[in-house]
Amino acid sequence: METSSKHLDAETIRQWEREYVLYPWQVQKGLNPTVAASAKGNYFYDMAGKKYLDFTSQFVFSNLGHGDERMAKAIAEQAGKMETMSSPFATEPKAVLAKMLAEITPGDIKYSYFSTSGAEANEGALKLARMATGKEKIIARYRSYHGSTMGAMALSSDYRNWACEPSIPSVIHCLDPYCYRCPFGATYPACDLQCAKHVEDVIRFEGEKRVAGFIAETIVGANGIIVPPDGYWQKVREICDKYGVLMMVDEVMTGFGRCGAWFAIDLYGVVPDVISMAKGISGGYVPLGATSMRPWVAEKFQENQWVHGHTYSGHTLAMASGIAAIEIYRADGLIQRSAEMGAYLMERALELQEKHPSVGDVRGKGLFVGLELVKNRKTREPIHEALWEGPRAATAKMKMLGKMLEEGLYCLPGQTSVIMLAPPLTVTRDEIDFAVDVLDRTLPIADAEVGQ
Ligand SMILES: Cc1ncc(COP(=O)(O)O)c(C=O)c1O
Repeated sequence: METSSKHLDAETIRQWEREYVLYPWQVQKGLNPTVAASAKGNYFYDMAGKKYLDFTSQFVFSNLGHGDERMAKAIAEQAGKMETMSSPFATEPKAVLAKMLAEITPGDIKYSYFSTSGAEANEGALKLARMATGKEKIIARYRSYHGSTMGAMALSSDYRNWACEPSIPSVIHCLDPYCYRCPFGATYPACDLQCAKHVEDVIRFEGEKRVAGFIAETIVGANGIIVPPDGYWQKVREICDKYGVLMMVDEVMTGFGRCGAWFAIDLYGVVPDVISMAKGISGGYVPLGATSMRPWVAEKFQENQWVHGHTYSGHTLAMASGIAAIEIYRADGLIQRSAEMGAYLMERALELQEKHPSVGDVRGKGLFVGLELVKNRKTREPIHEALWEGPRAATAKMKMLGKMLEEGLYCLPGQTSVIMLAPPLTVTRDEIDFAVDVLDRTLPIADAEVGQ
């Protein structure tokens, strides 16, 4: 009998998925996923009706919360009118979204190339840097994730890129602005921003005539919510200008209000040459990515071909969802709300640090906060080292996340010793209090490893 859509029970769904689906990033054996049935606001529900507070906006994309009827209406209306047109056609939603992006991105950033994911947005950035400068080398950073396609993975440098090495050539990695574990053994501000100056050294060693671009997450996401000190991006901007290197920021996670501003780079008052974005651009309602750039970059392709494209570049449903999302960010004041609720989340997270010896560091901006778990506050030995243990080893952090899920609080694991807190920008104070209570009850699992 042919399979058709039908109402299945949770066990059948799990069984069919185990039989027919290959799960991203997982050892497949023994997987036992929660079956999600519906989602509304800041919550999602399993088949038994149990409710979970979504405290990392899934993979940090549900900035608007789930099931917003304005989004559903905009997408449905567009689907009824014209689902999509291929990229050579101009469409009203594409024109409008591109203009809206020019309004909300920093400085004179104006042109956008559309794709459907963060990885694709970064693939576009990579090619832009090479084609716009005629140079080839790209400098990225070690503690980074830019996506799982070959080019984006080459830019990334957590243990996940080892699986696709040798990867694309001419990508060089440099050290990170990670004050809690400063790779230069220095302390801010006496350090005089060694982490930024190091970028200049790397450019000079690699040859300024060969370095096309520098790319990094403005604030590192999955590799541990690493917030560069003030002055870092300003200095990197100066260095990139000095050597004719394209400055590119990956705002796939940090964009669209996540850090209390439209883009995290706004917090540093710096205008990059290229911004890659995805996730929050459509709140996850339709897959969408964009690579936005300053006019001088786009002008390189007035006379020369932009040798890049995807079937679904500028997909009309994605454009409609991007427009509706930006209208909601604006109408509901969500960017400002992220700054305000983020301040409250930070205050509560600092209380957890006071109470729990395993919380070595608390850092973040807006609704993008990380608790770094350690075995010893003096030595700062991490409680979970993904480079050796993999992300899902049965460490105290993973045990905590399992217990939190049982208690109705979802947080995505991330790669390091850091628990990520990144709820939808619609989160309420009561919901933050609920999450902090659950963390307070589960942190003793990590505390038990302190001093061992
Ligand atoms: C900073 C950053 N860049 C790029 C990506 C890749 O995005 P996608 O999974 O949509 O390809 C991610 C995904 O989590 C990310 O966090």
